Amino acid sequence: MKRSIVPLLTAALFAGPAAAATPLSEAQLGRLLFFDPAFSINRSMACATCHDPQSGFSDQRRKVDGGVVSLGDDGHSTGNRNAPTAAYAATSPKFHFDEKLGEYVGGQFLDGRAATLADQAIGPPLNPLEMALPNAAEAVERLKANPLYTEAFTRLYGEGIFDLPPNPDATPPAYAAFGQAIQAFERTDAFSTYDSKYDRFLKGEYELTVLEDLGRTLFFSNDNVNCATCHKQKREDAPQEPFTNHQYRNIGVPANPALLALGQLPADYVDHGLLENLAVDDPQYDGRFKNPTLRNVAVTGPYMHNGVFRDLRTVVAFYDHYNNPERGLNPESGKPWRDPEVPATVAREELKGQALTERKIDALVAFLKTLTDQRYEPLLRAQEKRVAAR
Ligand code: HEC
Ligand code: HEC
Repeated sequence: MKRSIVPLLTAALFAGPAAAATPLSEAQLGRLLFFDPAFSINRSMACATCHDPQSGFSDQRRKVDGGVVSLGDDGHSTGNRNAPTAAYAATSPKFHFDEKLGEYVGGQFLDGRAATLADQAIGPPLNPLEMALPNAAEAVERLKANPLYTEAFTRLYGEGIFDLPPNPDATPPAYAAFGQAIQAFERTDAFSTYDSKYDRFLKGEYELTVLEDLGRTLFFSNDNVNCATCHKQKREDAPQEPFTNHQYRNIGVPANPALLALGQLPADYVDHGLLENLAVDDPQYDGRFKNPTLRNVAVTGPYMHNGVFRDLRTVVAFYDHYNNPERGLNPESGKPWRDPEVPATVAREELKGQALTERKIDALVAFLKTLTDQRYEPLLRAQEKRVAAR
């Protein structure tokens, strides 16, 4: 079944009057590429299909279908992971090992296997489960077929940019430039607006409610719940906080039966996270995933690398179950929390904290909602209406 590319309409959202005018800047070129379905085999999907700017740069189709992972261009393939938001991804530094911390830091994908946004962007078009082009040369052919691209690429990257390298396995320069241009777009303010209620609160333009403020205190307080251990890069209440220190941890997320039930992964499939990254081979990193940004998290569910939790409140309850004997049941299934997908490396020390009351859970959820960029606040209101109608 072919789907319409609803998100493509939202290209207009960022396409101000400048889009039609030449010369395009590198970021404007990247914007066109990000919304262009030409780089999927059946021309049915673009980056924006799975990273829809109307839904926090996450996959809106999945929510409609109640799915946990994204569908590929062929209309039936699914991958192993829940598409994360591409917003604020530019805050992640290049993937590296920090000797002082003794930790891997940064990179793109949940296992950091792409060092930069430019490296990341050349992945999906050739991924058979996603955009499924047979090879990079095909991507270059499709670039050359569009006069807007030939003009911009030769002007921005040089006359020889479309030449193919003698080694057929090497990345063609034009395809590498495709990644560069998308990276330039992903680094623009369109992806990182920093205008959530929380940002407005920091500027004195919004007053937090009592519940939101309690959530904020809990979030940042180190002897209470420790969220900030992993979801804070700067100091408390610093401007432009990405809400991740860009490190990797195993928080004990269970495998997702709904993902396995799709039948596209082996029944005993285990996602080893950081250990799937070819640059990493030490078993202490098994099952670790990138500490994700929490910006826009209220509108980008389902949650975790495998989409195992639907509601934000479940996520907070999940953290609490490590500290609170009363929190034995997963509120979504009504059953005990299942075992971690990779039990050996769970960051148990860092997950220790005080048990949370219902009110404190509500407060943390209310605080997380304040991290929603202003343009997505209507989505939050729509969500609240749906919940009220349940
Ligand atoms: C079929 C859905 C799909 C398409 C199409 C797609 N992505 Fe993704 N994207 C994903 C999934 C799933 C992940 C996580 C994969 C992983 O970690 O292994 C991801 C990860 C990312 C990340 C990393 C975010 C982070 O926090 O690490 C960025 C950035 C990104 N995609 C940008 C793009 C760009 C640019 C394109 C187009 C060239 C694109 N995506 C096309 C599904 C998709
Ligand atoms: C030890 C590090 C660590 C601590 C402490 C921690 N987190 Fe996380 N958080 C993570 C990692 C890693 C993930 C992703 C795990 C996965 O996908 O398997 C995550 C995922 C999340 C998500 C889901 C994000 C998404 O887009 O799927 C939310 C929400 C969240 N954390 C909120 C919190 C809150 C609230 C606290 C405090 C109660 C907290 N975290 C404490 C590391 C941590």
